[in-house]
Amino acid sequence: MNHAEEIWKTLVRATVDKKHPWRVVGFSTSGPNGPQVRSVILRGVKPAERQLLFFTDLRSQKMAEIAHDARVALLFWNPRSNTQLRVCGNAAPEASELIVNGHWERIPDYARKDYATLSAPGTALDSANSCLDLSMARSNFVALNVVVQQIELLRLDRDGHVRLAFSPSASGDWTEKGLVP
Ligand SMILES: Cc1cc2nc3c(=O)[nH]c(=O)nc-3n(C[C@H](O)[C@H](O)[C@H](O)COP(=O)(O)O)c2cc1C
Repeated sequence: MNHAEEIWKTLVRATVDKKHPWRVVGFSTSGPNGPQVRSVILRGVKPAERQLLFFTDLRSQKMAEIAHDARVALLFWNPRSNTQLRVCGNAAPEASELIVNGHWERIPDYARKDYATLSAPGTALDSANSCLDLSMARSNFVALNVVVQQIELLRLDRDGHVRLAFSPSASGDWTEKGLVP
């Protein structure tokens, strides 16, 4: 297995192993007011399509930032293997209602509440907007796809750090290049 295949396999593992450190991702956007970053959960991975899947609220700040600029940067860190992964890509909400419904059906009731707040996430909390409207939760839910354009891996090692850059080739494989750490 080459390095790129190994990375994608690890990303897939992070979606099924709830304790895997790459499950929680630093998700960075660039909005009209500059850069922003927040933690999100990696929900799905499609290596052949170079695609990562996240769930979020349509009304969240990150969605406005993605509408402003679809380019995103993602950061993964695994303290067990001392491995950092930096990913650049383009984010877009899943357009197929059938696919979004499929994701929604697998979300347990307790997690559906995350999308049921009366006011948008990030708005000031007051007594009028602190309750939930579960009937609106599905329409607030977004499945966000990120098509990966660039990957960079850095493995820290006393015997010599390893830094590798990957970009997609015309054939669909990943071209690997060693970099000075
Ligand atoms: C461990 C962890 C996991 C999170 N997972 C998600 C997630 O999957 N989707 C999401 O929209 N927000 C998630 N959040 C909340 C975000 O970090 C953020 O607070 C929220 O999405 C609002 O961000 P925004 O205002 O920049 O859009 C998570 C937070 C933590 C601490």
